[in-house]
Amino acid sequence: MTTRAPIVIAPSLLSADFARLGEQVAGVVDAGADWIHLDVMDNHYVPNLTVGPMVCEAIRPYASGAMLDVHLMCEPVDALVPLFAKAGAGLISFHPEATRHVDRTLQVIRDHGCQAGLVFNPATPLHWLDHTIDKLDLVMLMSVNPGFGGQNFIASTLPKLRSVRARLDAYEREHRRSIRLEVDGGVKPDNIALIAAAGADTFVAGSAVFGSKSWRDTIATLRAAALAARA
Ligand code: DX5
Ligand code: ZN
Repeated sequence: MTTRAPIVIAPSLLSADFARLGEQVAGVVDAGADWIHLDVMDNHYVPNLTVGPMVCEAIRPYASGAMLDVHLMCEPVDALVPLFAKAGAGLISFHPEATRHVDRTLQVIRDHGCQAGLVFNPATPLHWLDHTIDKLDLVMLMSVNPGFGGQNFIASTLPKLRSVRARLDAYEREHRRSIRLEVDGGVKPDNIALIAAAGADTFVAGSAVFGSKSWRDTIATLRAAALAARA
């Protein structure tokens, strides 16, 4: 049995009040968020348009050291990496279909001092892990199709999580290095237990946190349910 990484709750700013972003980042970190998840959309790879490195840099001082988990839904990827690294990203993840040379993009991220994550859409096969795993700090499974907050969790993510979990556990046993398993989309207090039991250790939650009355209570509920489910 491998040791489980601590649970990470990463609220997605996509559901925050963009007119008061700094305040919202400070508030959600104070309410217990471990990481801040920043969804970067380009109206090309996904049908929506959000924020760039300037906004990442602007929110950074409000995050009190919480890691900025930058999720690039952009095509191409490489030229954006140095800009987000400079803007304070701690981890940069991208979709393999969005770059010509996946290995090169992973290397660019690492060369800029960030952790690297690879993101799998609901229909993206896991074979992209075959030759990339040594350069990954995190695998992210999308449990909705990327582009919008507030969508419903796609149930086929659960068996997919289980198979990634088994693969990461085997990798960790052999290489003594752990890789996080993040899930993004439709995570709520009433399904996080199932998701954690399937092997996720890092949970993005946008509408569940920012749409709730008490961010603190919601984050605590999410964390407790995730912890209990994998005990
Ligand atoms: C979707 C984004 C997600 C989304 C999560 O493309 O990557 O991070 O904002 O939002 P909820 O938790 O509302 O599904
Ligand atoms: Zn995201």
